[in-house]
Amino acid sequence: MWWLKDVWVIDPSQKISAPRHVLIKDGIVLDVSASMTEEEVLSKAQGEAVEEIDGKGKFAFPGLIDVHTHLREPGQEDKEDILSGSRAAVRGGFTTILAMANTLPPIDNRALVEFVRRQGERAGYAHILPIGTVTKGMQGSELVEMADMKAGGAAAFSDDGKNIQNAEVMRLALEYAKITGFPIISHCEDKNLAGEGLMRRGVASGRMGLKGIPASAESVIVARDLILAEETGGKLHLAHISSAESVELIRRAKAKGVDVTAEVNPHHLIFCDEEIGITDTALKVNPPLGSQADREALIEGLRDGIIDMIATDHAPHTQAEKARPFAEAPFGINALETALSAVWQYLVLPGRLSLDRVIEAWSLSPARRFGQQGGTLKPGAVADMVLFDPDFSEVIEPAKLASKARNTPFLGKTMEGFPVMVWVEGRLVQRDRTVI
Ligand code: DOR
Ligand code: ZN
Repeated sequence: MWWLKDVWVIDPSQKISAPRHVLIKDGIVLDVSASMTEEEVLSKAQGEAVEEIDGKGKFAFPGLIDVHTHLREPGQEDKEDILSGSRAAVRGGFTTILAMANTLPPIDNRALVEFVRRQGERAGYAHILPIGTVTKGMQGSELVEMADMKAGGAAAFSDDGKNIQNAEVMRLALEYAKITGFPIISHCEDKNLAGEGLMRRGVASGRMGLKGIPASAESVIVARDLILAEETGGKLHLAHISSAESVELIRRAKAKGVDVTAEVNPHHLIFCDEEIGITDTALKVNPPLGSQADREALIEGLRDGIIDMIATDHAPHTQAEKARPFAEAPFGINALETALSAVWQYLVLPGRLSLDRVIEAWSLSPARRFGQQGGTLKPGAVADMVLFDPDFSEVIEPAKLASKARNTPFLGKTMEGFPVMVWVEGRLVQRDRTVI
């Protein structure tokens, strides 16, 4: 049994943000109380050994749930696999991962869904929940068998990275989503508007002489999908929203009662297009980093609940790929192991976001939207939990990363504020940033 003493508990599901004692036993949260005596704890332990942890100056919260992670297995295991990605997850404080469907081959049938699930269980760290594609082969034309894939363990559906360009196919997908009860996750990008762009179109892209992707490439599809969600009544989840205009469109749709949720990536909250240098391929992401005004609108949208969730879009790539010239390097950022610390340092410490809101947006909100366990420390809940130490510092070095990939903008930097203990179903899987 675990006894966390005098720890600051953040549990938005119970509206707790206060010093508490936490007991974990037999894989579940046994108790969260303002005070606890040794006798009480011993009587609850019923003879089991008690591991005491001094939680002073630290935070405990439900394990983070990342709804947008690329684990690359099957097919691109040189970038990442389910085991390395699961280890990276628990280093970063994530106890549940929704694994994106754009693997090779894409996860477009039940057998592949079951394969990803099994590999996740075999890895034995975070819970790995497969996202299935919306269309066969992610070709954007023929819908997959969603109900069958749900029966095999799919948690959501998305053609991420290959946004469905045909509005009728998207309409049908939202219609079918009502049968599964799961959201369709849309990576909003009009391929014609985006063209061969490399970064957000604007002053910075002009200065660098790089082809730009206009903000409208995203917002045109956001508008389309919101209209279709309203028309069908299907559940829509908008991935990695990156522009002020998208936030405004979502605000209006929510006011009308459209069944939509949205996520934002830490890198869009922290960086903007002006900060990209020609060799900074780690910051080459899709959707591209927006302007300073976009960044402000995203922070505000997350703060006031228009944006519901934070998600990493962890997109590992090999060093060789990211060492190519900017125009040729693939889009994507390696994020699982640094995301929470980055949000802590760049947004919570400067007072832009409260830690309570961050935890709500990264655990409770995803659990509710995707109908998954976790996101709560209510007594009886599965003990997926994080102990976060704001004073723990680490230099981000290649050798320390559990991920196979190195494409993080924080390489070589000293970061502060990390998860130092992580439990999955009551089992300690990470201590002091070492995976157990
Ligand atoms: O930056 C990105 N990388 N955005 C995506 O949508 C896809 C992802 C990938 O798969 O590498
Ligand atoms: Zn995407």
